[in-house]
Amino acid sequence: MKQKITKAVFPVAGMGSRFLPATKATAKEMLPVVDKPLIQYAVEEAVAAGITDMVFITGRNKRAIEDHFDKAYELEATLEAQGKTELLRLVQSVVPRHVNCIYIRQAEPLGLGHAVLCAKPVIQDEPFAVILADDLIDGTPPIVKQMVDVFSKHQCSILGVQDVPRAHTKQYGIVSSTNLEMNVERVHGIVEKPKPEVAPSTLAVVGRYILTPRIFHHLENVQPGAGGEIQLTDGIAELVKEEQLLAYRFSGTRYDCGSKLGYLQAQVAFGLKHHELRQDFAAYLQTVS
Ligand code: UTP
Repeated sequence: MKQKITKAVFPVAGMGSRFLPATKATAKEMLPVVDKPLIQYAVEEAVAAGITDMVFITGRNKRAIEDHFDKAYELEATLEAQGKTELLRLVQSVVPRHVNCIYIRQAEPLGLGHAVLCAKPVIQDEPFAVILADDLIDGTPPIVKQMVDVFSKHQCSILGVQDVPRAHTKQYGIVSSTNLEMNVERVHGIVEKPKPEVAPSTLAVVGRYILTPRIFHHLENVQPGAGGEIQLTDGIAELVKEEQLLAYRFSGTRYDCGSKLGYLQAQVAFGLKHHELRQDFAAYLQTVS
């Protein structure tokens, strides 16, 4: 029987050190792009792919994320009393009714691999998506939906990838692969942050994954790498030795909102698309050089 993806894991327990002091008291994933926090874009992407269970791996700054996806009684009552029905609807539609939000605490930021492993008790024996909200990807259909469609055909783990300049390979997990079909590669190996001169390719894994539950076995066994962190890439490198693993070249534009420059680029791109702002913002941009 064909399996379906119904659960997504959102690791949101990182330090966010590149955005200090903004991330001193709140998670990086709560930073807004125009008027929506990054994590909401990510959840909307999951909803668009038919995913119903959102599993957040939170850290010391978990409160804001839980509150964001919770009912806001006082705010809603105030907006209702003031007759601000449009804003009320906006606040109430942050997460659709059929969606469940589940929170798991990662006590220490021991790495992305460890954060994903924290989801094991909820995911159990199903394939699932992992979405890194700080990689904001604008695509039609949304990227996770594109990957779920590839999954429904191949029923195996899939990494979202894009080509990066060779000089940038040391910022990413890089795959070695052979072409399988249009936009889909069969992965043979993966290395974390290789130097440009030794990188097996320029095909970089960005923040979208579909993984089989076998990944948990490997994450339980990988040794901590640099900085004592358990790397997701190391778990995937073991997974590929025993299961088919594909890489999918998604169609869409990615903004690396974990970096200041990528975050500013996202603000400009989404500002220029925003239904209320686009004209005024475009006019403003004309005046700055
Ligand atoms: P990053 O590598 O971007 O690290 O994590 P970071 O700590 O968030 O940010 P910087 O580098 O200090 O500025 C990639 C993703 O993995 C999550 C982060 O929240 C982010 O979504 N993560 C990372 C965890 O949930 N737990 C961890 O232990 C590490």
